[in-house]
Amino acid sequence: MQINFSFVLKYSAAVAAILFMNACLPSPNPDPGSSVEPESGANTSVDFGKTKGGESTEIYTLKNKNGLIVKVATYGATLVELHLPDKDGNFVDVLNGFDDVSGYEGEDNQYFGCTTGRVCNRIAKGKFTLDGKEYTLATNNDPNHLHGGEGKALSKQVWKAESATDAQAVTFSITTPDGEEGYPGNLSIKVTYTLTDENELRIDYEATTDKATPVNLTNHAYFNLAGSGSGTVLDHELTLNADKYTPTDDTLIPTGKIESVEGTPREFRTSRGIGEGIPDKEATKTEDCKTAPKGYDHNFVLNGNAGEQRLAARLKDPKSGRVMEIYTDQPGIQFYSGNFLKGQKGKGGKVYPFRGAICLETQHFPDSVNHDNFPNTILKPGETYKTTTVHKFSAQ
Ligand code: BGC
Repeated sequence: MQINFSFVLKYSAAVAAILFMNACLPSPNPDPGSSVEPESGANTSVDFGKTKGGESTEIYTLKNKNGLIVKVATYGATLVELHLPDKDGNFVDVLNGFDDVSGYEGEDNQYFGCTTGRVCNRIAKGKFTLDGKEYTLATNNDPNHLHGGEGKALSKQVWKAESATDAQAVTFSITTPDGEEGYPGNLSIKVTYTLTDENELRIDYEATTDKATPVNLTNHAYFNLAGSGSGTVLDHELTLNADKYTPTDDTLIPTGKIESVEGTPREFRTSRGIGEGIPDKEATKTEDCKTAPKGYDHNFVLNGNAGEQRLAARLKDPKSGRVMEIYTDQPGIQFYSGNFLKGQKGKGGKVYPFRGAICLETQHFPDSVNHDNFPNTILKPGETYKTTTVHKFSAQ
């Protein structure tokens, strides 16, 4: 009999990984403050309220066999709740958000958990030229365009939901028409959230167009692994798999240079407390953080090959032991340390203070459409935009 050693090795590694994961994640002890009923069936949708324009919205619940719970809403294809256990099995929701759609439509919402686009982050002065034609977009982050624009950005629209039969995934779809928010081409997008029994939240994006257009999609979740609304994240420990970053001007537009993180506050190649790199924790402007006036707001250039899944970031809350690893095929990740959070109230009256959460947005580089040396963000007719980001959770 012939033994397939590579299969045996792979199989043993998989079994070991599952045993290790179960050892790392203690038995569930559901979040007492949450409205979630863990025994209820996964992937059920409930009313999330009507938008100001009278559109109905829904929220879907995904649950895995270890008790992890994810809630996603049709408004902005938004990640609303994520319940994770600490090292003793106590669950909390680790995401900033609101109780219903009205909060997401209000001015306290700073893109909490949404699908961001059609182009995430900034486009300088809201202008780009494609195939000889100049396009003008909203400058909603004066003087620049931010996160796809104003009222019709993807984060502000109601998406169509389609739940999968395995009850651990939901797909949102939308077509944003030619000219909407100033962008060319009818762009059809699908975003699928999947919660696996390996304690991963996987986000798959797909898009096609009928005219060349820039596309750069990400999720804008604000994480606080100690529990959302439980203070700042300055003691969270972060590792970024990035030797380089893209420096910016004072308006957070990349200069076009790609520089080493070595010897700068952007050095996160080995795990470091987030607060350590912000010399004066209350500073509004410091020498070290001069391009991010209140903390981190930088695009890091991920090591390894874009297009291949690899580790991008690892975040740990030392007190609860909760750990999140992010894997992606994207070339960059925006590390944003909640610099513009303003103590607004969110879910269940929780308060989200300055630096009270961290965003780790996998992406192509900001303003790529105006920098030929950055990886391409133009999608052409006949091509399919495809990207996947995986968040893997454990507790130690
Ligand atoms: C940007 C920040 C912005 C934040 C909230 C991040 O992706 O990099 O500059 O303030 O989103 O909109």
